[in-house]
Amino acid sequence: MFSFVQRFQNVSNHAFSLGIVIVVFIMASSYYQLINNSAFSLPSDIDNVKTLINVRTSRYFGSQRGKPKENMKIKFDLNTDLTPLFNWNTKQVFVYLTAEYNSSDKIASEVTFWDKIIKSKDNAVIEVNDLRSKYSIWDIEDTKFDNKDVVFKLHWNIQPWVGLLTYGETVGNQTVTIENPEKV
Ligand SMILES: *[C@@H]1O[C@H](CO)[C@@H](O)[C@H](O)[C@H]1NC(C)=O
Ligand SMILES: *[C@@H]1O[C@H](CO)[C@@H](O)[C@H](O)[C@H]1NC(C)=O
Repeated sequence: MFSFVQRFQNVSNHAFSLGIVIVVFIMASSYYQLINNSAFSLPSDIDNVKTLINVRTSRYFGSQRGKPKENMKIKFDLNTDLTPLFNWNTKQVFVYLTAEYNSSDKIASEVTFWDKIIKSKDNAVIEVNDLRSKYSIWDIEDTKFDNKDVVFKLHWNIQPWVGLLTYGETVGNQTVTIENPEKV
């Protein structure tokens, strides 16, 4: 009996170790394939960014004690081909557009305006004009957005069938100075 249990443990330990070897192999080879496909330097074109500002006084929009709070949305054009992110170990790709700006001398902010889940290689080419951001954002400080320099970037992360998430960003960030945003 004892030896049966022991043997069973030996066999399952072996199976477990083999499983780890296979997972590591899959991770390494799909990572290698990403590098081979230049996945970490894919170009993107973020263009024609228009900003819209809504002044809100509800706390659901970041206002405190009814003080007017700027909420910003954007419209933008985006062209990119994320096909190289898809290989046999790619389950889906999460792609998101961020904006970086300085809220103040001390606080650097990063916000997300738009995101999308891409489930197949066939949908990995993005060509959109005048797309509305999904999210409206407000600053954690009381900064006004007018005259701010904002850097827009497209990031991605790959959710694999086996292994860990892989993160990256495209080449082609856009710096936009917000000027006279449309107030709505
Ligand atoms: C934020 O401030 C830092 C330091 O002054 C500067 O290097 C950086 O370019 C600024 N970022 C933006 C988006 O203006
Ligand atoms: C924007 O892209 C350029 C060129 O790839 C890079 O050198 C620069 O660091 C990027 N800027 C930011 C804020 O990431």
